[in-house]
Amino acid sequence: MIEAHIHVLPGIDDGSDSVETSQKMMEILQQQGIDQIIATPHFYAHREQDVETYLAKRQAAYDALGRPANVRLGAEVRIEQGVSQLPGIEKLAFEGSDLIMMEFPYAKFAPWMIEEVYNVADFYGLTPIIAHVHRYFDFFTADQLKRVLSMSGVIFQANNEYLETHKERKLIKGLMKDGYPLIFGSDAHNLGSRRPNWDLLVKKTKSIYIEEAMDLLQRHLD
Ligand SMILES: [Fe+2]
Repeated sequence: MIEAHIHVLPGIDDGSDSVETSQKMMEILQQQGIDQIIATPHFYAHREQDVETYLAKRQAAYDALGRPANVRLGAEVRIEQGVSQLPGIEKLAFEGSDLIMMEFPYAKFAPWMIEEVYNVADFYGLTPIIAHVHRYFDFFTADQLKRVLSMSGVIFQANNEYLETHKERKLIKGLMKDGYPLIFGSDAHNLGSRRPNWDLLVKKTKSIYIEEAMDLLQRHLD
């Protein structure tokens, strides 16, 4: 199985705080049946000097971890106004793939957010992954969420803990049943409250949906 959303690189964001924590997170992933990892540290355009500086930090964190062969580098790009115009934004795609993970801001919905995603896809021929699509209920109305779910050419991602609330479970189960392009990820940040949790997913989700998700991801990775 492939982990496509995790904050496992040490010291780069609010995820793993040390090489030791990262190594333990990777051990747990392995025990849970993960053999490939895509590291997705947060990218907030307004906090970063530029894409190149972020990439250098990401590389340094990967080097500190000993450049594990089963880890590819990616990012979780916050959708901000103008992010699609940022020089080098396409370099935040997952290595060896056409995938770029983008998360909506935890703020009131605005149409420009969808435009930014489409712009990144169109300008660079990338396939956006909409991160944890079940986590926007507090900010988006049902209609706004529908607009997000009706986006074309994107993949939706669910965090493995989507089963924890009724609303989120209902949404993701609906997407699975209706055959939406859907992948999973732990979005793990640490060894505690946000630990790698593939055990949870495997226990509670029909294996066919997990297999379909892995096939979909694999088709986008070289
Ligand atoms: Fe994340």
